[in-house]
Amino acid sequence: MPIRFKKLSYIYNKDMPYAHKALDQIDLEINEGIITAIIGETGSGKSTLVEHLNALLLPSKGSLEILDYNIVAGQKQKFLKPLRKDVGLVFQFSEYQLFEESVIKDVAFGPLNFGFAPQEALQKAAEALKMVGIGEEYYNVSPLELSGGQKRRVAIAGILSCDPKIIVLDEPTAGLDP
Ligand SMILES: Nc1ncnc2c1ncn2[C@@H]1O[C@H](COP(=O)(O)OP(=O)(O)OP(=O)(O)O)[C@@H](O)[C@H]1O
Ligand SMILES: [Mg+2]
Repeated sequence: MPIRFKKLSYIYNKDMPYAHKALDQIDLEINEGIITAIIGETGSGKSTLVEHLNALLLPSKGSLEILDYNIVAGQKQKFLKPLRKDVGLVFQFSEYQLFEESVIKDVAFGPLNFGFAPQEALQKAAEALKMVGIGEEYYNVSPLELSGGQKRRVAIAGILSCDPKIIVLDEPTAGLDP
């Protein structure tokens, strides 16, 4: 099943005097098995768009199909947990995504939360940290003590450790240049 936005609109602060329509009737289809990049100027709505992919934001109007999930404006969503395992989202400001007392605990949090045994979760965390080039010497360091680029790597590892079917990266190379 591809990703399909159908006439999706999103309004920040809906029904308030300072309401702001960030997405206006978006129709977009993304097929399976490909890497897609979205470009647009600052404030054009890229983050707003991708934050719909794991229902961090819910559409104000229209709908979104992703994998076997159908997210429809105004309907209560009952499948947030499996959706968030299947669709991993690395935030634009990934330092806000880190919260545990150590790097290894942070990366193991996802697998633990999704039902893996503690030992398995640690194993998955170690594999993911290896993939992003964070060595064992950082396992017990607080995420708050890392550099911006290291935080981003750890945030990406925290998504990879959950084996998502779709990975969404909001400006993934910020702080990692070149
Ligand atoms: N929490 C919020 N409350 C109100 N308006 C918001 C909020 N977040 C974003 N907006 C507005 O929605 C629009 C789209 O913002 P968004 O963050 O999606 O843009 P972007 O394309 O990701 O920009 P950038 O390249 O700077 O990351 C902007 O006009 C922004 O001011
Ligand atoms: Mg953005």
